[in-house]
Amino acid sequence: MFDLKGKIAVITGASSGLGRDAALAYAKEGVNVALLARRAEKLEELAKEIETLGVKAIAVKCDVAKEEEVKSAIETVVNEFGRIDILLNNAGVAVRGGVDTLNNDDWDKSMNINVKGIYLVSKYVIPIMKQQNYGKVVNVSSINAFLADKNDIFIRHSYNASKAAVLGLSQGMAASYAQYGITVNTICPGLFESEMTENTLFKSQEFLSKYNILCPASRPAKRGELNGTIFYFSSDASSYVTGQYIVVDGGLSIV
Ligand SMILES: NC(=O)c1ccc[n+]([C@@H]2O[C@H](COP(=O)([O-])OP(=O)(O)OC[C@H]3O[C@@H](n4cnc5c(N)ncnc54)[C@H](OP(=O)(O)O)[C@@H]3O)[C@@H](O)[C@H]2O)c1
Repeated sequence: MFDLKGKIAVITGASSGLGRDAALAYAKEGVNVALLARRAEKLEELAKEIETLGVKAIAVKCDVAKEEEVKSAIETVVNEFGRIDILLNNAGVAVRGGVDTLNNDDWDKSMNINVKGIYLVSKYVIPIMKQQNYGKVVNVSSINAFLADKNDIFIRHSYNASKAAVLGLSQGMAASYAQYGITVNTICPGLFESEMTENTLFKSQEFLSKYNILCPASRPAKRGELNGTIFYFSSDASSYVTGQYIVVDGGLSIV
């Protein structure tokens, strides 16, 4: 029931970090992948690497906040593969700042990429999944949907708001599309090393020491530790699970 061989997955934010890792992990399980992000060269390099694993991979340059680019990207995927089984809505940005320091452009950037991006990509993928009467949508939120911190490095009010919105959006979608054989679930990661965190959170010894003391697992996540949950929500193992979220944070949010 965890078998993903031969499935077609669209992964947004596949050019680095968690999206890149997920794309490689899917490919190792026999999934054909469409890689979406803005940095085309990175996607093309990754597509080449993935093709050596014996599956198909296409690189599709796409800004998820721009409707015309999203529409054309999904058309490209359907022309190439004929269907879409899995949508991993992973693209995201972590803008720092509180309501008293953010400017409106920063606020809009968080909302446009982290929330509107999921809306737009889903807008073009859901009709295809409805026709198929099958689809697995996996949205990436964050523990920052429900955890905040007074520590300066963690003050990201627009990120908090956008990631909480992902949970609400996922529930709405889940309720509407279950009747079409589509599940919509959310993953809330804790701390993973990626472009988003390597020059910020991972650079601060003070932050890391505090994290390790607070976190029951006493460490950040290791590379690939999100993929089991991604596979669960992407496969028929979760066929009767929808509108739910799983927190992958080494227990940080329970203490
Ligand atoms: N790392 C963590 O500890 C952590 C924790 C909780 C949640 N998350 C979430 O996990 C997801 C992946 O983040 P990451 O940690 O892997 O960070 P990352 O390495 O910075 O990756 C972010 C990805 O999103 C893409 N992206 C950003 N804006 C985009 C846009 N407008 N259109 C299309 N793609 C866009 C980036 O590609 P381009 O720049 O090429 O467009 C990149 O591939 C995010 O949603 C993040 O909020 C991460």
